[in-house]
Amino acid sequence: MEHLAEIRQELTGLTVIDQLKYLASRFEGRIIFSTSFGWEDQAITHIIFSNQIPIKVFTLETGRLFPETYYVWNRTLEIYQKPIHAYYPQHELLQEMVGLKGPNSFYDSVDNRKECCYIRKIEPLKRALKGNEIWITGIRAEQSPNREDMHDLEWDEGNQLIKFHPIFDWTLDEVKSYIKAHNIVYNTLHDKGFPSIGCAPCTRAVQPGEDFRAGRWWWEDQSKKECGLHATEASLKTKAESFTNNK
Ligand code: ADX
Ligand code: SF4
Repeated sequence: MEHLAEIRQELTGLTVIDQLKYLASRFEGRIIFSTSFGWEDQAITHIIFSNQIPIKVFTLETGRLFPETYYVWNRTLEIYQKPIHAYYPQHELLQEMVGLKGPNSFYDSVDNRKECCYIRKIEPLKRALKGNEIWITGIRAEQSPNREDMHDLEWDEGNQLIKFHPIFDWTLDEVKSYIKAHNIVYNTLHDKGFPSIGCAPCTRAVQPGEDFRAGRWWWEDQSKKECGLHATEASLKTKAESFTNNK
């Protein structure tokens, strides 16, 4: 995408606050931030809300989040008094899948797991991103070898928009210090061995020395462990999608 180099140039040397302000003004009304209420996302939410930066904040409410995550969500609303938009799965798709396969089909096969991620996250994500030109996330390079190969500013071919990861280069210690210094509410599971927090049935604590993401879909082969939010479109074509298309 030809704009990218120019935007990258504009962002160089700016603080994260100024980067987000610049993008919010350049892409007014077409910029959106996804939060899963992990500490990376809480740091970015704090920056957006406490500086009144006009970026829409949303979450994908899969229906399977941890109680601790719902608590952080609620506290964040109370503290900042700003909307966090919730995108839910389409109930017909969910009813069909759960009716046929039960509530925990994701443990049975990678296809079933991708189907569940498609229905609970990817399809709602597409609705959330619609009409936007830039998508902000809390991804950091350190989180996985795959993410180390990414860039803080990139073109997302699948979703046809620009992605920006404002704290891409921050280490975990930097994230923690920022949270502490600004007294930001965060998910207490992070203190109990959960560096990465997704849906409750698909996330467990990691042991010291294990990868950040070792506790996500821990029963699956290492190579299959991006859920699709930040993966290629091709890997997401599932029965669920053909179900949507046939409706
Ligand atoms: S995932 O692909 O494995 O699920 P991860 O949990 O590492 O992603 O989070 C990376 C970024 O994806 C977060 O910083 C956030 O921007 C976005 N994200 C992940 N899960 C959600 C969710 N449920 N709702 C909104 N955004 C999410
Ligand atoms: Fe379903 Fe697990 Fe994916 Fe959540 S992480 S959408 S429960 S398979």
